[in-house]
Amino acid sequence: MDSREIRTRFLKFFEKRGHAVIPSTSLVPENDPSVLFNTAGMQPLVPYLMGTPHPRGARLVNSQKCVRTQDIDEVGDKTHDTFFEMLGNWSLGASEKSGDLGASYFKEDAIKWSYEFLTSKEEGLGLDRARLYITVFEGNDDAPCDNEAFEIWKKYVPESRIYFMSTKSNWWSPGDNGPCGPDSEMFYDVTQKGLGDLSKEEYMKADDRQDVVEIWNDVFMEYEKKDGKVVGKLAKKNVDTGSGLERVVMAVQGKDNVFDTDLFAPLMQKIKDIAGGEIKDIRAARIVADHIRTSVMMIADGVLPSNTDRGYILRRLLRRAVRYADVLGIPHNMLAELVPIVVEKYKGIYDNMADINGIIAKEIMDEENKFRKTLERGLKELTHILKKGKVSGIDAFTLFSTYGFPIEMTEEIATEEGETVNRAEYNDELKKHQELSRRGAEQKFKGGLADTSEMAVKYHTATHLLHQALRQVLGDTVLQKGSNITDERLRFDFSYAEKMTDEQKKAVEDIINTKIAEALPVNYEDVPIEEARRRGAMGLFGDKYEEMVRVYQIGEGDHKFSLEICGGPHISNTSELGHFSIKKEESVAQGIRRIKAVLT
Ligand code: ALA
Repeated sequence: MDSREIRTRFLKFFEKRGHAVIPSTSLVPENDPSVLFNTAGMQPLVPYLMGTPHPRGARLVNSQKCVRTQDIDEVGDKTHDTFFEMLGNWSLGASEKSGDLGASYFKEDAIKWSYEFLTSKEEGLGLDRARLYITVFEGNDDAPCDNEAFEIWKKYVPESRIYFMSTKSNWWSPGDNGPCGPDSEMFYDVTQKGLGDLSKEEYMKADDRQDVVEIWNDVFMEYEKKDGKVVGKLAKKNVDTGSGLERVVMAVQGKDNVFDTDLFAPLMQKIKDIAGGEIKDIRAARIVADHIRTSVMMIADGVLPSNTDRGYILRRLLRRAVRYADVLGIPHNMLAELVPIVVEKYKGIYDNMADINGIIAKEIMDEENKFRKTLERGLKELTHILKKGKVSGIDAFTLFSTYGFPIEMTEEIATEEGETVNRAEYNDELKKHQELSRRGAEQKFKGGLADTSEMAVKYHTATHLLHQALRQVLGDTVLQKGSNITDERLRFDFSYAEKMTDEQKKAVEDIINTKIAEALPVNYEDVPIEEARRRGAMGLFGDKYEEMVRVYQIGEGDHKFSLEICGGPHISNTSELGHFSIKKEESVAQGIRRIKAVLT
């Protein structure tokens, strides 16, 4: 059974049991500034887990794209990866009894269906029940021991393979705030011979050795956390489950590591090919496979390499991949060849995976080239520093700002040499630097438009239309990178890897001229920054804004077209703009295009 079939079987199994199949959201969370990427299937569903009714009902099922980079140092072992798909079934506002098909359910059904899906040959995965181990929550000051889950599991699995575990392993929450609760986890024995019955101690050792692998987690979400403390029960209970597809595929395909499954095998094969037919270092090859796969999925969701936030994580992954490509003897600029192999795996499953090979390959190549330009010099510098001993924070910051070395990479190389990096001092340096650029950004923001002549104001409004139209035509990777307005033209820089075709330019002009013809009103409102983000207003979210920001909206109700954080000023109706045409479209830097346009 391959990964595609496993995913499909999961969705079908729960669909048949009254669950609505919902699509994965983007890796980039919408309206949730607390995380850079979705790290669990439940993240985009938090409002519904907190009580808001979901439009599709009380039972949902999905396969959500996720990225977790906190275990990046573990990548290269058997099971860790930074991108993964989480299969999940959801019961929102659960009652004790499942009742009607559409109604919510709690522990009894959640456990039964987990077991059935894992073991059923017809509808599920047909896994060997003799290889299943179960953990349940042992209780703490906040919640009692989960005897209920234990009793339910006993119907399916011998008691000797069910272990009571502590809060550390069997309490799940997405962070310091939000819905949480005790969980029950399912582990699968992936050894050749089979481990048989294990005492709790033996089982925990087997877990450390990765001989048993977690394949599913059923969270019984009844509690709420605030500032890291459980503050009480939720108004309604939920079931949140998460099954890591990569690990499930590994169990089904009888592999002892995720890189041998069909999700990674073609990628590993290609790495071997481009490395000259031999993999000299398996850990390095796995790191390259993992990091390129994650980078492809991030870029497909509109993330581009940069020095802040999401862009920084992507940059770090790509630069790490380049270093390990060197370890493997992969020639320069060959990493981009891995892109179509990743895309092929997810085509038809996730949106935006079609026709993007070229764009992604170009981003990866550009970043590799950028990094290579300074890599050698930076490494020389770092080797020099390391000869003298520890790396100071100032040195680490220079390596970052001048040579593009992510701090984690400097630390990694230092550790290889048995040295350390002064991280606290580095953080201070970084803060100083960020403070300077923040002031720069605020000045830009507060200043608004420098030239407030009638024509310049018109061009300013046209710039908002252009930004939105470009995103509609070219996709969400388009973000404003710069703007310059005179009373004769607008100039707009934006992130996009390719030259625009004539058709794309025409499509952008057509959208804008239609919006002008529709005579849309332009209004603004001053709102708290969180509210602006919640509404999905575009803005430079990497930057720090004042608490209150001005949000300009073009169009109203069903005709709402654009929403942007902006200091203004703008005209009051798009009908005042005349006719919009693009005069020039060109490259200004790697991954950045520039449009010059006029109103006539
Ligand atoms: N939210 C749970 C997890 O991520 C299912 O493990």
